[in-house]
Amino acid sequence: MKGLDVVLLPEETQKKDLTNHLAVVIDVLRASSTITTALVEGAKLIIPVYSTEEALVKVNTFNPNEVLLCGERNGEKISGFILGNSPLEYNSNQVKGKTLILSTTNGIRTIEMVKAAKKIIVGSFLNVKAVAQYCLHYSEEVILVCAGDRGALSLEDTVCAGMIVELCKNSVKRSDVQSDDSDIALRMYQEFKNDLFKMLKTSVWGKHLIKIGLERDLFYCSQKNRYPYIPIIKNNAIFCLDYSTDNSLENCRR
Ligand code: MLT
Repeated sequence: MKGLDVVLLPEETQKKDLTNHLAVVIDVLRASSTITTALVEGAKLIIPVYSTEEALVKVNTFNPNEVLLCGERNGEKISGFILGNSPLEYNSNQVKGKTLILSTTNGIRTIEMVKAAKKIIVGSFLNVKAVAQYCLHYSEEVILVCAGDRGALSLEDTVCAGMIVELCKNSVKRSDVQSDDSDIALRMYQEFKNDLFKMLKTSVWGKHLIKIGLERDLFYCSQKNRYPYIPIIKNNAIFCLDYSTDNSLENCRR
């Protein structure tokens, strides 16, 4: 990579030219973790759609046996949808071979906000090492984009971005680190790296998920490097890149 930048809020990307960038969308709780899990469990592809209305229109363009309508508002399943946004719901029995139409508040909004980027991938603790490797092999600029929560910072996304910075920092010249956001993320990662589950439990959104009975999601999303797979966005759909093979290195240089 030529340079590594971090934005702690997706709004910060709006004043940047992303045309040569690889954008890494980070929404640890839970869109990034759910997207990764769904693809690992065999979903054919995921179509990210921000608005519920658009999701309802889109689903009708598919054969009903091949598609699942999925998503959350305020952390809970959208009424009438088949799945919510808990990664634990996305097992192979449910999703194998299916196209998922997914609508979430911050994660999908962030994907839409960086659509001018040359490449977009999705990162979380579950695939953090694979994502860092992918960034290191990318030939141009990389930007880590934290989804936050409707314009407010998220501790968990900041810490995850910091972990990617940590994994890449020896290969990036100090002068290539372009903002304070990057330093803040790295410091936050150093502060919390020994207990990511505890960090998730102290975050605002983590506390909300616990309150609605989803503490098990926090534990699941706190696991580092569970999967060597990277969700990658092509033509407005998210596919799975198997990063455990050497061929994928070639793919990411392009
Ligand atoms: C989002 O995109 O805002 C989320 O992933 C919220 C959640 O369901 O935890």
